[in-house]
Amino acid sequence: MSSLPLFSPLLRGARVVPVLTIEHVEHAVPLARALAAGGLDVIEVTLRTEAALRACEAIAAQCPEVVLGIGTVLTPAQIGEARDAGARFLVTPGTSARMARATAESGLPVLPGAATVSEMLTLMELGFRELKFFPAEAAGGLDYLKSVAGPLAELRFCPTGGIGPQNAPAYLAQKNILCVGGSWIVPKAALEAGDFAAITWLAAEAAALGR
Ligand code: 3PG
Repeated sequence: MSSLPLFSPLLRGARVVPVLTIEHVEHAVPLARALAAGGLDVIEVTLRTEAALRACEAIAAQCPEVVLGIGTVLTPAQIGEARDAGARFLVTPGTSARMARATAESGLPVLPGAATVSEMLTLMELGFRELKFFPAEAAGGLDYLKSVAGPLAELRFCPTGGIGPQNAPAYLAQKNILCVGGSWIVPKAALEAGDFAAITWLAAEAAALGR
């Protein structure tokens, strides 16, 4: 039953995935390049802004070195939009029954969101083995993921929500964790100021957390 395309091969060793909110299309390509230059070439661009889809199209067209994921996918219609914008993988913050089916049928690697054991079981029944755990810190954090490792031994997680340099290493040391995601790598002020050198530096620091 587990024949769905997996997300983990796209990581190629990466263990930190920046979660990006891009307000201005012109930031997209320099941002993606700055992150890749720091060693983070697997990224999630969230569909939380007007500019998001155009930002993704620009990254997909101009940054072949970047593995582009599209996140905050909330509706089946957005799955098609994300695919058309060049998504190599999809991320959802949580999973309705309708979205669970639609993402399973998308043909793309997906990290569907789950925060409870029941949601995790529902996704397992559909064939998913790799999930986003969101909002990680608010939903129980590392202790929660340690607790589910016994009963749900087949599952691997990408926790996001409240993760930063202070707690990422502990998450990454836990066996059922593939990678962590978060927005800390791209401070809003640095992006607004066009300080891409600072973003490369933060990316390099974050990439080192996973080594
Ligand atoms: C997400 O969608 O994964 C989160 O918004 C990232 O959470 P953070 O901003 O706490 O890193």
